[in-house]
Amino acid sequence: MSGFPQNFYWGGAVAANQVEGGFDEGGKGISCADMCTGGSHTKSRKITKKPEADAYYPSHMAVDFYHRYKEDIALFAEMGFKMFRFSIAWTRIFPTGLEENANEEGLLFYDKVIDECRKYKIEPLVTISHYEMPFALVEKYNGWASRACIDLYVKYAKVLFERYKGKVKYWITFNEINSAVTPVGNFVSLGILNEGTEDFLNQSDDPGLRFQGLHHQFVASALAVSAGRAIDAGNHFGCMICYVTKYPYSCNPDDIVKAQQENQIQNHFCGDVQVRGEYPVYMKRYFKDNNIQLEINPEDVAILKTGCVDYYSFSYYTSTCVSTDTTKEKAQGNIIAGYKNPYLKASDWGWQIDPKGLRYTLNEIYGRYRIPVILAENGLGAYDRVEEDGSIQDDYRIEYLAQHIRQMEEAIKDGVDLIAYTAWGCIDLISAATGEMAKRYGFIYVDKHDDGTGDLSRKKKKSFDWYKKVIASNGADLLTNE
Ligand code: BG6
Repeated sequence: MSGFPQNFYWGGAVAANQVEGGFDEGGKGISCADMCTGGSHTKSRKITKKPEADAYYPSHMAVDFYHRYKEDIALFAEMGFKMFRFSIAWTRIFPTGLEENANEEGLLFYDKVIDECRKYKIEPLVTISHYEMPFALVEKYNGWASRACIDLYVKYAKVLFERYKGKVKYWITFNEINSAVTPVGNFVSLGILNEGTEDFLNQSDDPGLRFQGLHHQFVASALAVSAGRAIDAGNHFGCMICYVTKYPYSCNPDDIVKAQQENQIQNHFCGDVQVRGEYPVYMKRYFKDNNIQLEINPEDVAILKTGCVDYYSFSYYTSTCVSTDTTKEKAQGNIIAGYKNPYLKASDWGWQIDPKGLRYTLNEIYGRYRIPVILAENGLGAYDRVEEDGSIQDDYRIEYLAQHIRQMEEAIKDGVDLIAYTAWGCIDLISAATGEMAKRYGFIYVDKHDDGTGDLSRKKKKSFDWYKKVIASNGADLLTNE
């Protein structure tokens, strides 16, 4: 017997631009992600303003889910998935974001994906926007810097709610909306491309514009939630936060206060707005200290209040440390940065591995909001090797996942209402930060490489059968030596 509830949703997660490919098929328009070249652990992705003939854009083919979704969903079903999180590419539905009418071919594609999930009784968890707004909106408006994007997003979201009514119940309005509190969120999340930006990891930044863009996303999210509820009262909406717990490096009160402040801005702020429907008090001081003046229309206040989310979803890969001593060694990680924790090991990409931090984080989140929680992303990006016999012995991934699942169970015992777990990159996909294929997360290996070679064939890794057992035993059979 495990501590997981009987109706717990086990599953996996992907995003359209990281798996689909078919970037110019079915009437699809160009998205932000389609303008990012491949990078690596040591070389930043480039953001191009026009498609460049000699550049490599990993999203253009990705792992060809666009043509292979049936095969892939069948494999997810074989593992016993109860939930599959995927995103809809805005540009398949509205190629530039500006059209009056939706692109039927794009809608049909997701009809098929959703029906395929339903065929296996897999609950779809749909992200409406996962790092890929139409590039045309970047060109016309500098993305979310403009309020015009609110209506365009709501138009798009309403089309999805109408079309998939009764078939999709769980929605996420924006993936990792809090990436906009850091400069790296400019392009990928907000479609803000300031003069001088060339590198994905080093963007020219105007914090005032960035927070204004984020405000527009908050309003858009709230309006979409209200519209989605009006269309189908059975819809459930979630925020999605990139959560990187920040520990004080020491018990020096200076470190404690700094860690609290950074947790507020980076981890809590967006959830506070989307769950509670208003800006938290601590942001007043932050905006003042950083000379940021937001334009908030009078009606926005009521919009935020009526469009609160029903559940809280988040990604958790790593934790980090905060110190007032800036000579400490820096840690690597996604979006939210900090210092190395001497008690933790790190992944091949330097992301610190902290399963107990997940229990801590789940308690923090549930204690703060008291609404159902979904762990929408978690996993280990690692180099995998195909052995001579064709097998992939990814014990390191099994260990990582098992340790995190064990801590989820502890958190449930602590009283956290965790309802779902969708492991990130359940099939190998393009890394968001580096654009690499070499950084693999999947239970399913895809024969695709960073030099563009590979026949795209799928292969089960050792973790495939392991996860199947985990799901079949409802989390009881984790089979590790921890
Ligand atoms: C999250 C994103 O930040 O982390 C995903 O929502 C991303 O899109 C994932 O892929 C892992 O990051 P990376 O850079 O290893 O792909």
